[in-house]
Amino acid sequence: MNPTTPNPQPATNDTGNARQRPIGVFDSGVGGLTVVSALRRLLPSEEIFYLGDNARIPYGNKGAATVERYSFELTGLLLAEGAKAVVVACNTATALAVPRLQDALKVPVLGVIAPGAAAAVAATRNGRVGVIGTHATISSGAYERALRKLSPGLEIHAAPCPLLVPLIEEGLLEDPLTDQHIARYLRGLLEADIDTLILGCTHYPLLKEAIARQAGPGVRLVDSADNCALAVRDLLRSAGLAAPETHTGTLQVALTDASDRFLPVVERALGLRVGDVGLRRVQGVALAGSV
Ligand code: DGL
Repeated sequence: MNPTTPNPQPATNDTGNARQRPIGVFDSGVGGLTVVSALRRLLPSEEIFYLGDNARIPYGNKGAATVERYSFELTGLLLAEGAKAVVVACNTATALAVPRLQDALKVPVLGVIAPGAAAAVAATRNGRVGVIGTHATISSGAYERALRKLSPGLEIHAAPCPLLVPLIEEGLLEDPLTDQHIARYLRGLLEADIDTLILGCTHYPLLKEAIARQAGPGVRLVDSADNCALAVRDLLRSAGLAAPETHTGTLQVALTDASDRFLPVVERALGLRVGDVGLRRVQGVALAGSV
């Protein structure tokens, strides 16, 4: 392991029944609640602990080493909450950190890119798939690799859409300004005759309707949230970690900055009640011991 990378390990090896422990989910902010919403719908018995790094958002224009370090720090905090599995509900962090997290951790780690790619491969009819995401996600080539692994012959067209996250965070979900940006970002993909578009950022499902309008009826939108939830269900079942079905799961949300103006926008858009929000200090977290 890179010596500059904190070294997370479960703080709760002795928590008794692992099945009752929470699924730990993290994102650069509260956009990853789109994945939580899908998890809550599919897995109502599961406890979920969500951590949003809103003190350091956006990740999408940061370098790989920084995003990797942040991802290890957040994972360390989730393990300290007793997470039995870690879901990286951020495409940027998935693209830049999931392989290293998977190598380093004892608990299962799941990102959003593989499930999104699988859904796109199942959806496309003409073999031309578009991907939109942050600069970091698109330039990592992670979606191309995941798609080609499943279907080597696909024609893939990727476009970074850096202004969409700020527009979403301002709550401009239905706004001519947002429509204009979407139209501009999608132009090249639509000219390439894609029939499937991966929303490769966990914020983008909040713009699904606006994107669908610009993309037109011939383009299927693939959002990795539902597919990620299905992958989490399968993974927990196969690892014997699924919560007992008689249990009613709860959602706990913590952020790294006390103030988040975007949270009410997400709650309204998703119909998700978050309740009291905890605060976690992330900078300078020291994680000792070996994994
Ligand atoms: N939620 C992040 C993602 O899925 C986008 C926001 C950011 O740039 O941090 O890539």
